[in-house]
Amino acid sequence: MGIMADDIARVRAATDIVAIIGEHTEIKRSGRQWMARCPLHGERTPSLSVSPDKGVYYCFGCQRSGDVITFVQEIEGLDFGGAVEMLAGRAGIHLHYTSRDESAARSRRRRLLEAVARARDFYHQRLLDGRDAGPARNYLRSRGYDSDLVRRWKIGWAPAHGEILAHHVGLSDDDLRDSGLGRINDRGSQYDFFRGRILFPINDERGDTVGFGGRVMPGVDGPKYMNTSTEAKTYNKSRVLYGLHEHRKEIVKAGRAVVCEGYTDVIGCAEAGIELAVATCGTALTAEHVRLLKRFSASRLVLAFDADAAGAAAASRLAAGARQLYAWEQEFEMEIWVAKLPSGQDPGELARTEPDALRAAVENPERFLQFRVDRVLADGDLSTYESRAKSAERAVDVVSEHPNPLVRDPQIVNIAERCQFDIDLLRVYANSIRSRAEDRTVHTGEDTRDEDIRLTPEDEALQLAIHRPGEAAGRLHATLFGDPVRREAFQALQDEGEVVAASDRVSPQAAQTLHRLAVDDGTAAVDDVLARIAGIAARRAMNELRRQAASSHDPAMRQHCSVSLAWLKSQTERLEERPTRTQALADLLPWLIEHGRRSEGSVSGSLVASQADPG
Ligand code: UTP
Ligand code: MN
Repeated sequence: MGIMADDIARVRAATDIVAIIGEHTEIKRSGRQWMARCPLHGERTPSLSVSPDKGVYYCFGCQRSGDVITFVQEIEGLDFGGAVEMLAGRAGIHLHYTSRDESAARSRRRRLLEAVARARDFYHQRLLDGRDAGPARNYLRSRGYDSDLVRRWKIGWAPAHGEILAHHVGLSDDDLRDSGLGRINDRGSQYDFFRGRILFPINDERGDTVGFGGRVMPGVDGPKYMNTSTEAKTYNKSRVLYGLHEHRKEIVKAGRAVVCEGYTDVIGCAEAGIELAVATCGTALTAEHVRLLKRFSASRLVLAFDADAAGAAAASRLAAGARQLYAWEQEFEMEIWVAKLPSGQDPGELARTEPDALRAAVENPERFLQFRVDRVLADGDLSTYESRAKSAERAVDVVSEHPNPLVRDPQIVNIAERCQFDIDLLRVYANSIRSRAEDRTVHTGEDTRDEDIRLTPEDEALQLAIHRPGEAAGRLHATLFGDPVRREAFQALQDEGEVVAASDRVSPQAAQTLHRLAVDDGTAAVDDVLARIAGIAARRAMNELRRQAASSHDPAMRQHCSVSLAWLKSQTERLEERPTRTQALADLLPWLIEHGRRSEGSVSGSLVASQADPG
């Protein structure tokens, strides 16, 4: 990833995984582990287990796992390097990078972000005391934005005169352009991107200001909002959410977020005491936004759009419309609700005029489908047979977009009742619509959440190697593991001596296995565990010997195979009985390990000559 391995190790050592996770969820001690409700997937009963000894976590609910860096990646939506940087920042560790390019790219991004932050502070100060900002101050005040509020959201004023900021921040042409703060005109001079606008600084989820939304003054020509250009290297509008950094803790705690359309809606919600609001920045809601919210544990989204926009499943607000929403509900395991706002009002206005109504709407939302059916029927004319038929058809069309028949049918009944049609007639109609609308979004498979989490014998053996390496020493070997993932995990653990280092160099599946087993000490007796894995390895060896005997024409070989088979059989029987178990293990394990080594070493399998004497 570019950061020196020693530095990464120092960051891990300097960071308390329990404390970091504890910032996002309540975490309680349970024996040597800690348990918490998993902040990565929103749940009611704790299934996240954390082992401070091993430095890892594993969630039995969502199966996410890793070390403190992975956790920060997941919860803060960062890449590996970003997470290490964040933790290093907290621990006061200075990082070194392996490649010059990497170093340069990171420090460039830092430099651009610093420039954006300086611009933000400049614009903010300008709004607070600039002479040319008087009208903007008055306008904001008229909307109820007092100076506390302006300071809290660091709202700014970009002077109309076009090159003030460019001079103030003093950037190279490249940096000016790539930070989104300015451009170069035909004559080669720098000018400001934002001119004569009220600016809402947009922070990414880490809290770095990455861009601005700029509102025009009332009565002035031009687009109402201009947002930082997509050319800016620091700004990615399809993954940034205004208000997420500010409200992330409340969102994680509540397990839900309120999704609005605009900056002023987020601010209005916050003023009305709803500290869960976020907004896209001049773009439709994308899967990336939804994934980001899910990362912050929002398993419920309440859309607080202007009623007309939500009713239309607005093409402009919800990229791909209703079907997309239902697909997200399944993909991200979340529920999408709609706050019923009075028509023509957005949350920003409602927060000023009727904050109680806004709170009520957000607290009592309706499921998206219900909301849309109600609107279609409310908008329709139910006075004639023909117009009732029209309304019913429209409503059924809306219902037919939903992938779940158990949700669709009660809605069909509801529509039939409200439009006074025979239920079965409407069902027939609904089915004809459904079969026409080729629908590939139906998911039939239920999720595998409650999959069997009992441990296999190889899991137990690996667990033994993790938690009681002394007791397993010399008695376990990679060749005893038949499953390649567990074998890989075991080998890495042997080589590295501890879980985090081991999981760094193995496949994702092997790493997850290590994490899962590291968060639980396991209680099984050592000899029981060894007996189980030895029994399985012995059966594997016996199968091999049988195959070998069957395919060989050499009488000596067949003789040897049958002797070995008989010996293995008797040993496995002795394994089953407690009194003989320890001795059987002492005899069997070295044989199995040696056997595994040899058959691995020589593909040709010169088994006979090589075997330790089984007698
Ligand atoms: P709105 O028109 O609803 O504005 O656009 P608003 O947020 O309610 O602002 P006020 O309260 O009237 O001042 C909602 C969002 O759509 C984007 C902006 O992100 C805005 O916050 N938008 C709107 C644009 O990007 N460009 C535009 O021209 C208009
Ligand atoms: Mn609005």
